[in-house]
Amino acid sequence: MSQASIPNRYSDVIERVKYQIRQKVWLPGERVPSIRKMSRLAKVSPATVTKAYELLEVEGWIYAKPQSGYYVAAHFNQLEPSSASGLPQVSNQAISINRHVFDVLKAIKQPDVIPFGSAFPDPVLFPVDELGRRLSRVIKSMPLNSGVTDLPPGCLELRRVIAQRYANEGLSVSADDIVITTGATEALGVSLAAVTQPGDTVVIESPAFYGALQAIERFHLKAIELPLGDGGGVDIDALANIVEQHDVKACWFMSKFQNPSATTMTIEQLTLIYQLLAAKQIPLIEDDVYSELYFGSDKPPSFKSIDEHGLVLHCSSFSKCLAPGFRVGWVLAGRFSKQVEELQFMSTLSVAVPNQQTLAAFVKAGGYDNHLRQLRRVLEKRVSATMTAIQNDFPAGTTVTMPEGGYFLWVTLPIEIDTSKLLEQLLGQYRISVAPGTLFASSRQFKHCMRLNASFELNDEKRKALKQLGDILHRAKKGCER
Ligand SMILES: Cc1ncc(COP(=O)(O)O)c(C=O)c1O
Repeated sequence: MSQASIPNRYSDVIERVKYQIRQKVWLPGERVPSIRKMSRLAKVSPATVTKAYELLEVEGWIYAKPQSGYYVAAHFNQLEPSSASGLPQVSNQAISINRHVFDVLKAIKQPDVIPFGSAFPDPVLFPVDELGRRLSRVIKSMPLNSGVTDLPPGCLELRRVIAQRYANEGLSVSADDIVITTGATEALGVSLAAVTQPGDTVVIESPAFYGALQAIERFHLKAIELPLGDGGGVDIDALANIVEQHDVKACWFMSKFQNPSATTMTIEQLTLIYQLLAAKQIPLIEDDVYSELYFGSDKPPSFKSIDEHGLVLHCSSFSKCLAPGFRVGWVLAGRFSKQVEELQFMSTLSVAVPNQQTLAAFVKAGGYDNHLRQLRRVLEKRVSATMTAIQNDFPAGTTVTMPEGGYFLWVTLPIEIDTSKLLEQLLGQYRISVAPGTLFASSRQFKHCMRLNASFELNDEKRKALKQLGDILHRAKKGCER
């Protein structure tokens, strides 16, 4: 995975270290990465790191110990309480974010707004005509009793084609193990409800998909928000500590193309996390909605692919890769299948039958893989083009990571910028939306970040919008510096 920074002599290193200190990755008295290591991580020369560390020292963030390295200054003890374990701090708390998510998403969905803040891929990327033709054929020929036969767990033909796709990836799955749901949203919701009771504690990533935060709020659960490491994946030592200290009832993680950070876990990370949870029999809800959108030659592994104990509730849908409006998803729920099926039955009774049958027919007819191959190629190109534009237009100190799949870019801006405050001006004056970092955590710790949807072709309109966005960010940074 490559990380690109706006060329700037020192600010990338400075912001990186400040961010990590604020996030309590490095606590007072702990040594920050050595000059050699930071030079490798930040892809800058050792001389640049030395200069950055000297400036951080002048500002009082760190201090040098001769022959030893640079350490976090003690006064951060007073500013921000430290954790005794030396691990990222976590709090176990009720979540209240739904209203914020609702307000922001409502504001950014107006049709004349440039949808960089949207979670939906560019609609022109889908075989809409073909799906329409099949839908009309299905409606004309649908057996009258299919409203009954396709009740939960859902249309058998669709469950069979999904099971076949799992089989092609090496997983032995029967159609009976799959429950069809109204999008991944319902899949995730019923999965969470199947393994928790109100008041229980669930571990999620930080930053997390806001849907996870909303579901936790809806089911009156408590969340422990676990920071993602620089390269992606939750901090495994911190997770080990948490499952020792708290009565964790479930974890909700994304193994690949995480929304919003766009990071992907390695098989080693997946295995360590899975072993840790399996030892305590903690169920793992895996949100894998972007799994088909990989840019490499193979799909990265999922938790489900190493699930020896039936602990993983694997949730996905066709929303991001084939038919966004159809609202068809599924859960492969392992040992929790029965509860999930019953809860889905109570939740929406049945997923729209013509939609299920249309998707089954489309996948069976054989055009799906071809469509996916094309989709991945286009997305990779667009994501890369958007990333280059960001590098050219955004202020120094911005970092953005090139994902291995999906279509989101997680942009970390200089720490002074507050993207949620800029949103009103962006929407009102420029008709541009972004997803502010505040959507992805219960606190405001990602206020200087934003998620950009890079699935759109960078035509003149979108290119101009990115340039305007860059100008606004430059001005915001200058305003903060004054
Ligand atoms: C990470 C993630 N999970 C789940 C969903 C919901 O998927 P669906 O539209 O299939 O309900 C989304 C949609 O944005 C998402 O980004």
